[in-house]
Amino acid sequence: MPIKKSDEIVLKDYQVKIQKGVLNRLVEFIGPLWQKRKIALITDDNVGPLYANAVKGQLVRMGHQVIILTIPAGEASKSWKQVQLLINSLAQNDFVRSDSVIALGGGVVGDLAGFIASIYMRGISIIQIPTSLLAQVDSSVGGKTAIDLKTGKNMVGSFYQPDLVLIDPDTIQTLPKRMLVEGYGEIIKCAALVGGTFWKIIEKVNQAEDIITHAEELIHASITFKAEVVIRDEKEENLRKLLNFGHTIGHALELIETGKLMHGEAVAIGIARITAAFEKKGMTKGDTTFKVKGRLACVGLPVDAKELGSDAFYSAILHDKKIKNDQITLVYIKEIGQPAFYTLKIAEIRNWLNPVLAF
Ligand SMILES: NC(=O)c1ccc[n+]([C@@H]2O[C@H](COP(=O)([O-])OP(=O)(O)OC[C@H]3O[C@@H](n4cnc5c(N)ncnc54)[C@H](O)[C@@H]3O)[C@@H](O)[C@H]2O)c1
Repeated sequence: MPIKKSDEIVLKDYQVKIQKGVLNRLVEFIGPLWQKRKIALITDDNVGPLYANAVKGQLVRMGHQVIILTIPAGEASKSWKQVQLLINSLAQNDFVRSDSVIALGGGVVGDLAGFIASIYMRGISIIQIPTSLLAQVDSSVGGKTAIDLKTGKNMVGSFYQPDLVLIDPDTIQTLPKRMLVEGYGEIIKCAALVGGTFWKIIEKVNQAEDIITHAEELIHASITFKAEVVIRDEKEENLRKLLNFGHTIGHALELIETGKLMHGEAVAIGIARITAAFEKKGMTKGDTTFKVKGRLACVGLPVDAKELGSDAFYSAILHDKKIKNDQITLVYIKEIGQPAFYTLKIAEIRNWLNPVLAF
């Protein structure tokens, strides 16, 4: 792992800087990287009022010309309509290839702004400043950009690496609690796969407020893991598949719950259920489910849903894109930090998942 200092991760050829207060020290990081230019600061209507003017002020003091482009908050903005509006704004403001984009917001802003940057004039540079916990630990790193189609999420996109990712853990203090906790679900998933010191940090979090206290080390551990997956994935395709832990069940629940569960909440239930099922089969060490459920539940993440095991749930699983030749490969953990794969016939999935342990 090409880690330099505790708060600095170098991923491929760009830096991910994680430090409290970094949002007020942009000149230190953007100054050496970008000469004077036009910058489109893309944000949404929740994040913009909180942080955009402070970011713009610093960029203007560096000599940049800045326009703020604000999109409506929410997944619906990952659309062709927003792509068109934003691209037209860049063109009307005479942006050329040497001009740039900064994404200031959650995963929606990051995915959309990344896509815009990748296609405007065949690609202009971008810096990601993720402000939600989910974006800080997941979507801002890895270079995946996307918008949605009516037929599905993230159907159109590109791989496009930013020049820099700046993560200020202080910004999560303004996140609504449900979104903070949802993002933390992604962190628990990674920690359960990695174990060791990462899991020890998780054990320090006993209520939602502790997520903010330990944000810096949690984000650092998550991104270190994600960076390793992204770097090694070029050779080991299986590694990235580990990130699907909890997702087969999570996606099926999201499909039938239609919007009631947030993605991270559905995955939390998925992680708890898959671990319980494998523990019941004797393939996961006793008490692992107790540990995993305990960590999820103490911050208020759901670990169960009445729809689990219903006919609707099992027909939703059949839509899983990962099914190949009537077989599905599930990610499970033998114990904390010991991930593994298990492939079974899709016809057997009901028998496999239904008999779980009682807790
Ligand atoms: N590119 C990838 O690799 C990748 C990975 C995972 C998820 N994603 C994408 O990320 C998106 C979800 O990300 P998200 O959960 O950040 O959603 P989001 O961008 O919708 O942000 C969630 C909400 O929090 C608000 N918000 C963000 N930061 C805030 C702050 N500091 N203070 C107050 N409010 C704030 C936003 O305005 C929004 O209302 C999805 O579209 C998903 O597909 C992409």
